[in-house]
Amino acid sequence: MTKLTVLEIPHPVLYEKAQPVEEVTTEIQTLLSDMLETMYKTNGVGLAGNQVGVLKRVVVIDCASKEEKPDPIKMVNPRIIEKSEEMICHNEGCLSIPREYADVVRHETVTVEYLDENGTLKQRKADGLLAIAIQHELDHLEGILFIDHLSPLKRKMLLKHLEKRRKKQARLEEENQ
Ligand code: NI
Repeated sequence: MTKLTVLEIPHPVLYEKAQPVEEVTTEIQTLLSDMLETMYKTNGVGLAGNQVGVLKRVVVIDCASKEEKPDPIKMVNPRIIEKSEEMICHNEGCLSIPREYADVVRHETVTVEYLDENGTLKQRKADGLLAIAIQHELDHLEGILFIDHLSPLKRKMLLKHLEKRRKKQARLEEENQ
């Protein structure tokens, strides 16, 4: 298994729409395994194809807490087929927008349909953190980031904060050379 590079904003691939997978090949299976490993190593709960520079509709998620046993979900061509009217607000982050968090409102429960790694059609009804992660990751496949759900002012502040931290980090690295 290979650890992949997670792309960060403003990489253009993050704003593009991912294309459907025509067939779940061994190549796709390897990609899903690599994405899962990358997600675990970076302490994420979800990762979409766009984030590793692959514009294919593939997503991995594991929302199990540290006390629970792992619950990896590999999804190909996922789509939400049902969503609750009830909404939920959660403080979200994203591996592509490191160490920035903001409250995002999403559907409380969703049912997602997808192909698993063997090409079998599956359905899963989710609530709580898993429902949030599914909506967040499926957004990625549309080129949408969680900050796109914020007000323009909040988004601007978050991006400014990220920029400031990046500059500081670059300065520190320069000093340590
Ligand atoms: Ni994300």
